[in-house]
Amino acid sequence: MKRNYKLLCLLGLSLGLAGQGLAQVKTFTVKATQVGAAVQPTMWGVFFEDINMGADGGIYAELVKNRSFEFNKPLMGWTVQGNKNEGDVLVINRQELKAANPRFLRVKVDNRKKGDLGLQNEGFRGMGIKQGLRYDFSVMYRQSNPGVKMHLELIDPKGNVIGAGVFTPTQSGNEWKKQAVSFNATATEPKAKFNIWFEGNGTVDLDMISLFPSDTWKNRPGGLRGDMVQLLADMKPGFIRFPGGCIVEGSDLSLRYQWKKTVGPVEDRELIINRWNYEFAHRPAPDYYQTFGLGFFEYFQLAEDVGAEPLPILNCGMACQFNTAEVVPLDELGPYIQDALDLIEFANGDVSSKWGKLRADMGHPKPFNLKMMGIGNENWGPQYLERLKIFTKAIKEKYPNIKLVNSSGTDPNGERFDYLNGELRKMGADMIDEHYYRRPEWFLENATRYDNYPRNGSKVFAGEYAAQSDKTVSVDNKNNVKTAISEAAFLTGLERNADVVYMASYAPLFAHIDGWQWTPDMIWVDNLRSYGTPNYHVQKLYSLNKGTNVVPILLNGQKVTGQDGLYASAVIDKKTNELILKVVNTTDKETEGAFSVEGVTKLQSKGTLTVLGASDTEKVNTLDKPFEVSPKTQAVSVKKQAITTKLAPNSLNVIKVKML
Ligand code: AHR
Repeated sequence: MKRNYKLLCLLGLSLGLAGQGLAQVKTFTVKATQVGAAVQPTMWGVFFEDINMGADGGIYAELVKNRSFEFNKPLMGWTVQGNKNEGDVLVINRQELKAANPRFLRVKVDNRKKGDLGLQNEGFRGMGIKQGLRYDFSVMYRQSNPGVKMHLELIDPKGNVIGAGVFTPTQSGNEWKKQAVSFNATATEPKAKFNIWFEGNGTVDLDMISLFPSDTWKNRPGGLRGDMVQLLADMKPGFIRFPGGCIVEGSDLSLRYQWKKTVGPVEDRELIINRWNYEFAHRPAPDYYQTFGLGFFEYFQLAEDVGAEPLPILNCGMACQFNTAEVVPLDELGPYIQDALDLIEFANGDVSSKWGKLRADMGHPKPFNLKMMGIGNENWGPQYLERLKIFTKAIKEKYPNIKLVNSSGTDPNGERFDYLNGELRKMGADMIDEHYYRRPEWFLENATRYDNYPRNGSKVFAGEYAAQSDKTVSVDNKNNVKTAISEAAFLTGLERNADVVYMASYAPLFAHIDGWQWTPDMIWVDNLRSYGTPNYHVQKLYSLNKGTNVVPILLNGQKVTGQDGLYASAVIDKKTNELILKVVNTTDKETEGAFSVEGVTKLQSKGTLTVLGASDTEKVNTLDKPFEVSPKTQAVSVKKQAITTKLAPNSLNVIKVKML
């Protein structure tokens, strides 16, 4: 009786513990010597588009909005302050003479004292200013006689001056001059504004009024925001796709991205309205333009800086098919194709060639070593294929080694996708760009998507993806743990199929907290701060642990593709002799994983386990709590070629151990 009671108690206890979610052991087998597909160095990259104030007001560190008065409303972002007489501040348009930068400001300074007449710029949702930092002011000006002084002031929202300098245009004549002055800020302020007060007597013409922080990436004058580039560099991306995205297509052809208008001196780069200015009525951004201060030279330079392959995407002779769907007649595609050919010359050509020379003049005589290029963004239908064929023939004839990325449209399935995917494969496309903005469940269900793809022929570029906690283009989408973990599970399927999938990138990349149109996004910023979302950390963990070759990891003899909510893939790194496992637990229960490694003689006695996740699937990072959900690394013991470890609820686990 006593014995039965004891048994019952034990049974009750174990049932109770099971009910509480006590760890169950799952035994995985890793076949470390069955070396499979090579993981491409390009496998994990980033997708850059100027959306959500990603470029102007974002990574491009210019603080002055509408610096050359070319927005549709020439004084948008500016206020004239003080006592203004009629004609004191004129917007002059020299369209006939300088079509790329027609407008400038003429200021009549008639015996003025400081505080009488001035301009104020509001910045991009304010200006982020840091105490003690040097700020570099520059302007292009023209005056017949010196006589005007300009007092520069950074002010906080209460009107306190938090940085000041004096600028005296010294040169005179009919030619435009560029002159600069620097000053330091005395306080930190995320929402500063910038004043220019005029003093003295005279008339001065002003254009390209600019203010940059000095702490840009690599301290380059007129450069990029250091913190934002650093987040990219930290990922060690295999490639950077740029400049989009829909902005490649333009809502109509006149607004397509034309790379030639984004290179050379910044004052000659013709600004256009950003299509995300008006795309979503529920997220209007009337002050969103593309100044192209971040242009194609800077994109190539950025890619080089962070060790990524550049992947420019070019317009294929079609405007966005969601908007006007304009197409260029087939026999008029010449200039579009020439743009593609010239871009290769710009990136790779000898300095004696026309476009190679421009690259050299811009400061980079060495080639950028461009290897691939995309033709079309989310284009579809026979109209796309007709145009693509003409591009492909011309590019391959001249540059047979350049790999081309082709579009499979907007969705990962359906009629459009099936048609394009079939036709592109028949055409022998180098790489097919697939996009998936789907619910987290889709990502889990599709972890096996590439297991049955053709092993030969066209390769896949998972060019844009993000799990949507609500639905595509909903303002309620969140970068939470649930979406990140579902992506992590899906990525095991990309890694396992590294012979099919050559490149992958989350989209969109950046979003400004006060200026976004689209969510979710990988990295969020305000004027001073930036943080990686849980989704960023997933991408980064994959990229930093990409290894060189896939090896099998099995659960009960099967690929790990969702059994009991578990997903896994494994690689080895031939360069470091490491075995790297990625195991995703998508359930809310802790599980114990026992990983038995077959084929190796010896493993180092200690490895590492890096865990990303949280019990609460709604958890997010924020500007105030940027590391709420971030990877934590600990040591794990290795016993007799096996590693046993807990797999936390909703977690991505990266296990790394040296093979001896
Ligand atoms: O990433 C946002 C947009 O999504 C891209 O511009 C476009 O390619 C896709 O529809």
